[in-house]
Amino acid sequence: MPDILKTTLGSLALPNPFILASGPPTASGEMIRRAFQAGWGGAVIKTIHPDGMEIQDLSPRFAAWTGTKGELFGFENVELLSKKTVSYWENEIRSLKQDFPANLLVASIMGDTDFSTWQNLAIRVGDAGCDAIELNVSCPHGMPEAGLGAAIGQNPDLIRKLTKMVSAVASVPVFVKLTPNITDIGTSALSAEEGGADGVSAINTIQCILGIDIDSFEPLPSTGGKGTSGGYSGPAIKPIGLKMVSDISQAVSLPIMGIGGISKWQDAVEYILLGASAVQICTAVMWNGYEIIRAMKTGMENYLIQNGFNSPDEIRGTILGKMQPHHTISRSIRVEPAISENQVCLQCGKCVTACRDGGYDALILTPKGPVVERTRCDGCGLCLLVCGSKALTPMIRSG
Ligand SMILES: Cc1cc2nc3c(=O)[nH]c(=O)nc-3n(C[C@H](O)[C@H](O)[C@H](O)COP(=O)(O)O)c2cc1C
Repeated sequence: MPDILKTTLGSLALPNPFILASGPPTASGEMIRRAFQAGWGGAVIKTIHPDGMEIQDLSPRFAAWTGTKGELFGFENVELLSKKTVSYWENEIRSLKQDFPANLLVASIMGDTDFSTWQNLAIRVGDAGCDAIELNVSCPHGMPEAGLGAAIGQNPDLIRKLTKMVSAVASVPVFVKLTPNITDIGTSALSAEEGGADGVSAINTIQCILGIDIDSFEPLPSTGGKGTSGGYSGPAIKPIGLKMVSDISQAVSLPIMGIGGISKWQDAVEYILLGASAVQICTAVMWNGYEIIRAMKTGMENYLIQNGFNSPDEIRGTILGKMQPHHTISRSIRVEPAISENQVCLQCGKCVTACRDGGYDALILTPKGPVVERTRCDGCGLCLLVCGSKALTPMIRSG
């Protein structure tokens, strides 16, 4: 079933729901060309800006939080916008669309505080033949100081005004890329909808300081001993992205491109179940390359086939009805630990310690494994999470 991944994004169609997010992997036409050849369904160009806006990046501009085996948890960047001119991108858009007509090519743009500069960019990239425009009102570093990026995305009136102005002149659908650095992203999405947006993208990176080198007394990343706060991305931000996409799905009826911490097909499925039509990915490609698309496509294809679906469109938003206000969730269901018959307890005692110091002191370690004192257990589930051998399994009681 070669076409099972075909996806719709509002009025747009794409061969699969996997899109490269605006960032280093979409910094040139040649890179996007290689990504499309590898199988990516679409790409959002690294944010294009008026030629007069000077972009000078810091070096270094990344920092990473990794595990002992080099696996990536979280990533910080303080990178700015595209280093190419508008006419460079006009030519690349024309050429890419000629060679890859079926792939979705989105031009991310950022003008200055005079919104007519955004209109000018929108007209130029639209005339060059891009399929859609994404308004970057969400960059959290560098640009807000100039009243741009997240400074616009944190102001509902400005989102509405800018979207309205760009939509009035754009020849292709306009998506607004929202910032998570705000209390209620639903309000931002509503402003975009009121301004006439055709869709929203969420999330951009989350403001962060990745860490401090406590020996050199320097912030990370450090440029000559000095640093600045940046944008957080990668696996650590997926739970925040999911929450934001869920909020947007419930606030507006616009198509959504879900973004944030996606590194495997299962992450993409989660975003789609919460209402995203397609997903964008940046950090996972920076860490592992364009080729991750192969396993992502195969994984999602198999998942859809095994569950009897014909397209990612059929699972979109299907989990939303299960997201309920806290007070409406049943209190008559309780989950308690039970000893698994299939797994051997390692006698590590982690569950006992966790329950004693972070729970209800309801576990006693015996030579046969932990024993639960049912009268003390409050059903919080902490022991099940800390158990390394999975010897503890959940026993669900209801009524
Ligand atoms: C190094 C770097 C540069 C980025 N540059 C841009 C950019 O120019 N425009 C933009 O809209 N988002 C930019 N982003 C944000 C990503 O498009 C994306 O929203 C974010 O990284 C979260 O997705 P991820 O966890 O898959 O990386 C950048 C992200 C990174 C890591």
